[in-house]
Amino acid sequence: MLRYLTAGESHGPALTAIVEGLPSNLQLEIEGINQQLWRRQQGYGRGGRMKIETDRVDVLSGVRFGKTMGTPVALQIHNKDWRNWSDKMAIEGEPHESVVEITKPRPGHADLAGALKYHQEDIRNVLERASARNTATMVAVGSIARQLLKRFGIEVFGHVVELGPVKVETFEGTIPEIAERAEHSEVRVADPDAEKKIIDAIDEAKAAGNTLGGIFEVIVTGVPIGLGSYSHPDRKLDGRLAQAVMSIQAIKGVEIGLGFEAARRPGSDVHDEIGFRQGDYYRRTNRAGGLEGGVTNGQPLIVRAAMKPIPTLYKPLESVDMRTKEPYRATIERSDVCAVPAACVVGEAMVAWTVAQAFLEKFGGDSVEEIERNLNQYLQLIGER
Ligand SMILES: Cc1cc2nc3c(=O)[nH]c(=O)nc-3n(C[C@H](O)[C@H](O)[C@H](O)COP(=O)(O)O)c2cc1C
Repeated sequence: MLRYLTAGESHGPALTAIVEGLPSNLQLEIEGINQQLWRRQQGYGRGGRMKIETDRVDVLSGVRFGKTMGTPVALQIHNKDWRNWSDKMAIEGEPHESVVEITKPRPGHADLAGALKYHQEDIRNVLERASARNTATMVAVGSIARQLLKRFGIEVFGHVVELGPVKVETFEGTIPEIAERAEHSEVRVADPDAEKKIIDAIDEAKAAGNTLGGIFEVIVTGVPIGLGSYSHPDRKLDGRLAQAVMSIQAIKGVEIGLGFEAARRPGSDVHDEIGFRQGDYYRRTNRAGGLEGGVTNGQPLIVRAAMKPIPTLYKPLESVDMRTKEPYRATIERSDVCAVPAACVVGEAMVAWTVAQAFLEKFGGDSVEEIERNLNQYLQLIGER
């Protein structure tokens, strides 16, 4: 079983993760993890924090001479801002005089529910962990999953398809072409016209003290038929993908394939007819997004997610001070105007992670060699059908 746990506060000394269940002999590129961390920090419309932190990972265990040993891999990402927070976030002792308790919960955040649920006077004890800073560890563990999948010819791409009021026109190209164009875009879109409109929309939102959300799409190619299962609800890969992507901060909807659009069409315009040619089953369309009955069907996986606008507004919303019960409007230190391109990278990581889990469930072995043997035997078996 492939699993991970993360820990760490936004302004604590470091974020950490432990990944357990990786096979041995997987070539792990640490720069590949750093590259994904860098991608998460890009995107037009980000706030001040991105300028402070340039995330880099330290691998503390489980890897020797560039290869996994089949033992737990521990990861650490330092919070560079920690030096300014060591008093306010001290692990031991009494609160330092510089600590100002936060008692004003922000709408759209875990602040109010978290302070009541965990019985905290200082909302900082909630927001430090609820913050999207933790998505850095999600990207780090996801990038290990990505490297595992790539070893077996499975690749994960992502791009933004809607941002605020701008819808990106469908770009007629191959999946790697779409990904390549999105990679060079400041807002991770494949269409340069849309890019310009999106940047204008972000500038307008910023000037108005507002924020924007959007929709991103993650595509996985090279996925073998048969990951996931129809046999029990918690083994269905569509459900598991939805959970993993929905767990990202600010994600409010997940679609597979046509998703919500399928509800608006007649059945004849939704389902993908099956053909057989030169010894292989094929589909002319992929409206199902590569999943039928919770099982991969050999088509690329297509997962889309809707991100709400960032809840911290420069034109603040009303709330109530939990100590005085008086209304207030929050003052803002720094915040993103839009983080959809970054969320797309986190989405890729969570999809990669979930597919890697299902892949190891199906073909798992203790070493990369054993997995390869299992995969090849299976491909041969289904190739005869
Ligand atoms: C990559 C990323 C960056 C984010 N940056 C901010 C931010 O700068 N300010 C903010 O208020 N919320 C930000 N959020 C969203 C909040 O973390 C999120 O809305 C909040 O924790 C409440 O969780 P929920 O929206 O899932 O209910 C960001 C989310 C992601 C995925």
